[in-house]
Amino acid sequence: MSDQEPAQPWHDALPLADLPDDGGGTTVTLGGEPVALFLHEGRVVAVEDTCPHAGASLGCGVLTRGEVTCPWHGWHFDARTGASTDGLDDCLRVHAARVSAEGRIEVRLAPARAAQPETGER
Ligand code: FES
Repeated sequence: MSDQEPAQPWHDALPLADLPDDGGGTTVTLGGEPVALFLHEGRVVAVEDTCPHAGASLGCGVLTRGEVTCPWHGWHFDARTGASTDGLDDCLRVHAARVSAEGRIEVRLAPARAAQPETGER
């Protein structure tokens, strides 16, 4: 983010107690976009919900050993960086997440990614 860009607001998502604690995720819509939320090693993880492969909801996937696994075809993404751990160029936007004093998850959306030109079949 450059110094000229305004800070993104924190969006109220849901109570921390409503997040599965078994590695499963959930999807919420914040600021008009779907966000997948997970609880991993005591920390809330928020990533874009739409898998870059074929559009599955990653909130229906799981987060284990630091990786988000897509429920449709099993692509893996690093939960901290969003990078593919399968060696692919596709990655996820990772959003900032925190828990308020009232126990609610709040998310600050990462800047939107610039459109990428189509490079061919996958
Ligand atoms: S839709 Fe996610 S791996 Fe295919």
